[in-house]
Formats: sequence, structure tokens, C-alpha cells
Amino acid sequence: MIRFGCLMGWLCLALSLAGECIADEPPKDVQAAKAPPKVRRAFDLVRHDGARVTDQTFRGKPMLVFFGFVSCPDVCPTGLAAVSQATRRLDAHGIEVTPVFISIDPDRDTPELLRNYVKEFHPRMVALTGTSRKIAHAAAAFGVQYGIRKNAAAYYVWHSSSTYLVGPTGDLLETFPPYASTETIVNGARRLLGRKANGSAR
Ligand code: NI
Repeated sequence: MIRFGCLMGWLCLALSLAGECIADEPPKDVQAAKAPPKVRRAFDLVRHDGARVTDQTFRGKPMLVFFGFVSCPDVCPTGLAAVSQATRRLDAHGIEVTPVFISIDPDRDTPELLRNYVKEFHPRMVALTGTSRKIAHAAAAFGVQYGIRKNAAAYYVWHSSSTYLVGPTGDLLETFPPYASTETIVNGARRLLGRKANGSAR
């Protein structure tokens, strides 16, 4: 399985170097990146409106966090669609989460590009970017794995694609696997936030 994943990864890399393929999916064994236990989910990044924000900025409201990049052809749109649908459904249950998209491709994903991208998914969705170094720190805090390899012929990006539920106090409450359905996210968030989110479960 691992050997097959590596083979596919290298095949796609080879194709991308030939300019044929923009691969997004890492091998299966790293798609479902597990968050490290008992680490503060800290970040210090730039929001899509240009403001500097940290994990502290979001205290008091739960977040659904997904890492990726704007030009991702498949994995990110699918993941963000599930996150935005889940956000809408949770609103209907009286649970307000902030959907957060963190770019791992800061050279291309400018705040303005990110602003236009996330508004297509949910009016409340927040996009974050920053220096490569600060993005690496944020990714490490969540256990997210990613890589970018670029040359004259191609721009190859891959990333793990779990969705993270962070509680109002900043604790990681759940890691949803890649391609988690809207139902999975809604059910998990209701179970974990139902009473805490705003005092009354509905
Ligand atoms: Ni992606």
C-alpha cells in the first residue's frame, strides 16, 4: 500500500514535471494527517482582508479548519464544500462555527485571491495566509503535511486533507478524515459542541 502510494506520487510528479498534471493528492498514508496530541493549535497569520490574526483572535467561537491552496483542482473544493455545507447546517441547529481555510501556497495565494475564493463557499469563511515559515508553524500545530516543488515546467503541490474541529477554548476536538461527508462533520460537531456552543442544545 505504501509502496503503491509512493509509486503514484512519483508518477504524478514525473507527469507534472512534464507539464501534464497538477497533482494535489499525497499518498494515501499521509492524506489523513493526525493532529499531534496536547499541542496548542497556535498560528500567527494574515487574514484575507490583510489583518494579522492569531489563534487567540478566534477564541470564543468554534472553528472548522482546512488547509490547502486556491488552484487545487479537486481535493480543496470538495473539502471546502463539505465544510461550508456543514457550517450552514450547524447554523440551523443554533451552533455557529467559523470555517477557516489556511493556504499552504503563500507565493500564489494572495489575500485578495483568497478573499474572492472563500466567499464562493460561505460568507463567513475566513482565509489565512502568511510567510512560508509561519504557515509551516501553523501546519505543524495541526499535524498537516504538505509540499511544494516548482521549476520552470511545473508547479507541484500536495497536502494532507483532514478537517479539524477546534473548540471555543482553542482545543482540538476532532480530526475528520479526508473526504468526510457533510453529515459526518455536522454529527461530530453537534455531538462535541451541542451544549457548549451557545448554552442550549437544539
Ligand atoms: Ni487541495
